[in-house]
Amino acid sequence: MGKNVPFNNLAEAEMLAKKRLPRAVWLAIKAGNEQGWTLDENIRAYNDLGFSPTIFDRPVRQDTRTSILGVDIDFPVIVSPVGAQAIHPGGEVAAARAAARMGTAIGLSSYASNSISEVTAANDKSFFQLYWVGTRDRIEARVEEARRSGAKALIVTLDWSFTPRRDWGVPPAPPMKLDIPTMASLAPAALSRPAWLARYLVKGRIPELKVPNLFITKDQVPTFGEAWAEFVDTPTPTWDDVKWLRELWGGPFMVKGISSIKDAKRAVDLGADAISVSNHGGNNIDGTPAPIRFLPSIVDAVGSDIDVMVDGGIRRGSDVVKAIALGAKAVFIGRAYLYGLAVSGEDGVYKVLEILKNGIEETMFGIGKSSLDELSIDDLLILNRDFLVKPAC
Ligand SMILES: Cc1cc2nc3c(=O)[nH]c(=O)nc-3n(C[C@H](O)[C@H](O)[C@H](O)COP(=O)(O)O)c2cc1C
Repeated sequence: MGKNVPFNNLAEAEMLAKKRLPRAVWLAIKAGNEQGWTLDENIRAYNDLGFSPTIFDRPVRQDTRTSILGVDIDFPVIVSPVGAQAIHPGGEVAAARAAARMGTAIGLSSYASNSISEVTAANDKSFFQLYWVGTRDRIEARVEEARRSGAKALIVTLDWSFTPRRDWGVPPAPPMKLDIPTMASLAPAALSRPAWLARYLVKGRIPELKVPNLFITKDQVPTFGEAWAEFVDTPTPTWDDVKWLRELWGGPFMVKGISSIKDAKRAVDLGADAISVSNHGGNNIDGTPAPIRFLPSIVDAVGSDIDVMVDGGIRRGSDVVKAIALGAKAVFIGRAYLYGLAVSGEDGVYKVLEILKNGIEETMFGIGKSSLDELSIDDLLILNRDFLVKPAC
């Protein structure tokens, strides 16, 4: 499966994605604010951790199964919610199918180009990720649609702070309308990569610029630009709003975007089942240290009350093992699978997940561990004494 995929590791996948995507689309997924310091730091921080391999009595098998937010998964890597996937005509459904084939879950973004019902049909381990956009009535209708569609958990993301300022290449603003002048203005970028555009034309589609999960009414689906404008105009949710949302949903509930002990404790207080330590892949405030550096302190503070996940910078199976050893129940991946999707659609995402799963098993074999429960900080070497950073309390 996925034999024709032209990459064998995530570095190659990234290089090919950069080559094949129109520049504006590439910049939109690579992203990272301002200097991109946090974007790089998220990856770099994993290099401050190492292993001490063993050679005797290594286990024959590695059991990588776990369960999160009420679903069983074959290995602790989940496809993270990512918006604006104008990178492959397969879109989120392709990613959902690949995740299902690999026995894992997907979080579907509010800003996805496929609807939650299309994604739950492709993967019965789908979670819906909600941004606080519009009135409570509109939010309730979207939550109910996720429930009707069979989403297994609700993820609320609270850390996107509208700061798409960059010191390097700025992608065009999301279009408000899909009229002829707008399409004409986007055409040169699309035509710069004819092979990429041809994939859409073969399927009789154009890159999707509507966001069905942020519907206004059942018949009124906004463009990305319109939904963005509604987001910017909506006051950020208060503690009571999030508590209301938690109670409205009732099922497994995760708060995404935690970078402080105080916020982690508040998520526990409102009855969340899980949090994810995340800086939105470097798309929130540049200068925020990597989530993996905060993870041990946050696990110490709330790990006995709630499942703690982490994301940001994961590009190898050994990164996943490091995160689990520091107390994460599972990790989410963003760009890693976007690169695979951009290069080879569903098979590309499958290959990325396979590379990560194999990497987890090989690392566990090398350090003599047969199950995730056996991993602890004692399995890691802290190579840089500044590795651990205590987040704000
Ligand atoms: C292009 C892009 C779009 C994203 N869109 C969303 C989104 O709609 N909702 C969300 O919760 N997180 C979003 N994220 C954040 C990811 O879910 C995840 O936290 C991040 O990508 C992890 O870092 P990594 O890309 O280094 O794996 C986005 C990230 C990227 C790169």
